[in-house]
Amino acid sequence: MSDILRQHAEQLFAQELEELKQQDSGHRPQNWVLAPQSVVTYLMGGTLPNGFEVSPKYIGNKRLMEIAVATLTTDRALLLYGLPGTAKSWVSEHLAAAISGDSTLIVQGTAGTSEEAVRYGWNYARLLAEGPTRQALVETPVMRAMQLGKIARIEELTRIGADVQDSLITILSEKSLPVPELNTAIQAVRGFNIIATANNRDKGVNELSSALKRRFNTVVLPVPDNTEEEIDIVRRRVESFEKVMQLPAEPPAAQEIRRIVTIFRELRNGVTADGKTKIKIPSGTLSTAEAISVVNNGLSMAAYFGDGRITASDLAAGIIGAVIKDPVQDKLVWQEYVETVIKTREDWKDIYRACRELE
Ligand SMILES: Nc1ncnc2c1ncn2[C@@H]1O[C@H](COP(=O)(O)OP(=O)(O)OP(=O)(O)O)[C@@H](O)[C@H]1O
Ligand SMILES: [Mg+2]
Repeated sequence: MSDILRQHAEQLFAQELEELKQQDSGHRPQNWVLAPQSVVTYLMGGTLPNGFEVSPKYIGNKRLMEIAVATLTTDRALLLYGLPGTAKSWVSEHLAAAISGDSTLIVQGTAGTSEEAVRYGWNYARLLAEGPTRQALVETPVMRAMQLGKIARIEELTRIGADVQDSLITILSEKSLPVPELNTAIQAVRGFNIIATANNRDKGVNELSSALKRRFNTVVLPVPDNTEEEIDIVRRRVESFEKVMQLPAEPPAAQEIRRIVTIFRELRNGVTADGKTKIKIPSGTLSTAEAISVVNNGLSMAAYFGDGRITASDLAAGIIGAVIKDPVQDKLVWQEYVETVIKTREDWKDIYRACRELE
């Protein structure tokens, strides 16, 4: 096992990518590692003709992945849009890994992202010593992707200021990055494209300018359709967490995951699973990603401070932490949920007790 805390997708799934490449028979766009169909198989999972099993990365609608992959073969860039924790970054990483064999050409968008982080910068010591030369120029991941014919990833595009966002327009429409200081331009090689992610919930978001919007195809990643799908996502992610962290804990019982997912979905939807009781909605997003962390935290509690088997009290603190983001409002919402829903379920007595103990 590697010492690296978190391997890139192309390292972690190197074998799957290699098998897919061997068996790949479809037309491969220039500089793509795999044909579009194989990219979708890599994302959705499946059995190859030789019996090799590819694990699913994205759980959900296959059509969305087909649209995403098809977009990247055109001259338009891809924007993955949706609520927090709907796998936008995750899908972006896996797409880049499967298409370019490299998911690391990434720009993290923040309010402070400058044009130099998107286009290019200068090594000032060299700039002063030599003047503007090719050696003094500092390439960005976007510039490198253009030269290598690979996918560049821009995370949280809408956190970047509008003026900096607009520096992408020339890159996307002309496929060229002018460097006036050197009286030249970098022309993108085939295979280059951009995958951006943006979420529609977090504050401090800059609207995407309409000029830029027209250069992106937007794929909206939805919250999981139903309980079973969400349980499946959480289970798979928790399994891989256990493996990576080498926790001395037993995999959580299916029933524990079901309860966490049920609590999250009911609070998110404002109604109990049977549709009978209305409940108040807390301010947090209660995303699938947070459900995954609650179970992961519980596992760690069980492994190091319990007998290795996850119990309701290992999970309660995590659930409460995820639900109560606003100490006043959310607390009331949660207390009401505990008393009107959790308390009344016969087989949830242990959760009820664990939650009350933490109050
Ligand atoms: N439909 C899904 N299929 C597979 N994994 C999922 C799915 N939904 C959520 N996940 C898991 O949730 C976790 C968080 O996903 P990710 O970080 O990509 O979210 P995001 O949409 O980028 O959120 P944010 O807006 O906060 O950046 C990942 O570990 C991912 O595996
Ligand atoms: Mg993200």
